[in-house]
Amino acid sequence: KKVALAYSGGLDTSVILQWLRETYGCEVVTFTADLGQGEELEPARAKATAMGIQEIYIDDLKEEFVRDFVFPMFRANTIYEGEYLLGTSIARPLIAKRLIEIVNETGCDAICHGATGKGNDQVRFELGAYALKPDIKIIAPWREWELSSRETLLAYAEKHNIPIEMKRGKGSPYSMDANLLHISYEGGILEDPWAEPEEDMWRWSVSPEAAPDQATYVVLGYEQGDIVSIDGERLTPAQVLAQLNQLGGANGIGRLDIVENRYVGMKSRGAYETPGGTIMLKAHRAIESLTLDREVAHLKDELMPRYASLIYNGYWWSPERLMLQQMIDASQAKVNGEVRVKLYKGNVSVVGRQSASDSLFDMNIATFEDDKGAYNQKDAEGFIKLNALRMRIAAKKGAKFA
Ligand code: ARG
Ligand code: SIN
Repeated sequence: KKVALAYSGGLDTSVILQWLRETYGCEVVTFTADLGQGEELEPARAKATAMGIQEIYIDDLKEEFVRDFVFPMFRANTIYEGEYLLGTSIARPLIAKRLIEIVNETGCDAICHGATGKGNDQVRFELGAYALKPDIKIIAPWREWELSSRETLLAYAEKHNIPIEMKRGKGSPYSMDANLLHISYEGGILEDPWAEPEEDMWRWSVSPEAAPDQATYVVLGYEQGDIVSIDGERLTPAQVLAQLNQLGGANGIGRLDIVENRYVGMKSRGAYETPGGTIMLKAHRAIESLTLDREVAHLKDELMPRYASLIYNGYWWSPERLMLQQMIDASQAKVNGEVRVKLYKGNVSVVGRQSASDSLFDMNIATFEDDKGAYNQKDAEGFIKLNALRMRIAAKKGAKFA
C-alpha cells in the first residue's frame, strides 16, 4: 500500500500525511509542485523528511504550466462567467497529471489530495486522475475524516508532533491558492458577499489609488497567439507571465471580487489577483482584432464560454476540450505581431497594434479619405437592399413593430 499525496507543506496536508499513515497503514510519497506560487519549497522537503518520508518529489513545473496550460487557455480569450480568469482551475489538471506520473514511477496504488468535499478542486483533481489512469484509487480525507474544524485539526497536529508554524502570515484568515497566473482568496470575512476585502488582504498588487501617476507602456510580441517577447526582449512563457505580473501588480491591475457558481452547485465568493493574465486577455484580443477573420473570431467567441466551463468544471483531459483546443490552436496560425498597452491605475488600455505579416486591416479600403477605387460604395446599396428584403416583405404584409 503506497499513496502519492499532493503536499503543500502547510498544516492541512501535513495532517493529511499523518492521518493517511494512521488510517491506511500505508507508505506516503509526497509531491510538491512549484507553479510559481512564490513560496520556498525547501521547507516542504524539510517537513516531509522530518515526518519520515522517503520518496519526496519537488518539481519545478512553471514553464510547463504556462506553456502547455495557461497559454493554450488564453488563446481562446477564456473567462468564466464573464469575470474569472481560471487561475486555480487551469493548474489542477497539471497537478493531476504529475501525480499520476509519480504513481507510475513509484508504484503507488492511490493518490490523495487536500481539497474539500465542497469545492471545485476535488472534481478537477479526480476527473484528471481518472482520465489519465482509469483504475486509480483516490483518497480525499476531507470527505472522510472527522477533523472538520480548525481546532480539531490543530489538536490532531499537536498530538502527533506535526510542526504547525505556518510559513508566512502565521495562518492567513483566508483559504488561498497561488501560482504564476493568480492568487485567490476565499473564506474569512469574504464569506459575506457584502463585505469589502480589507486592503491588506491583497498580496500581489498595489491598489489602483496607490498606483503611480505615470502610465507604463509595454509592447508585447505575439507568435501564433502566444506572447514571446516584452519590449523586444525574447522570453520564455513563464518569464513572460512573471514579468507581466510585476508590471500589472505595480499598476494596480488584475484585482477581482466576485460571486461565482461552483460546479457542485453552491455560490461562492472569491477575490483574485491576476495582474499578468488581465493584461494578456486584453492584449490578445487586440492582436486578434487585426489578424483574425471576422467569422473565425465570432465563432471562437461563441465557443469560449463552453470552453471556460470545461476548464472550470475540471474537464481539461476530456475529448471535447481536446477537440476545441485543436480548433482554437488552428485559429492562431496568423495571430502574429505586436500590441502596445498602457498600464495606468488599475487599467489596461490597448493603444496600438500591428502585424507586418498577417494584418487583415486594409487602410486603403477603410480610409475616410479618397480610396481610389479600392472599395466601391455602390456595392453597399444592393447589399443592404437584399438584406432588407424579408423585412420589407413583412412590412408590406402589415408587420407591427410595437
Ligand atoms: N474558486 C476558485 C476556483 O474554483 C478558486 C479555488 C481556490 N482553491 C483553493 N484550494 N483555495 O477555481
Ligand atoms: C476546496 O474546497 O478545497 C477549495 C475550494 C474549491 O475547490 O472550490
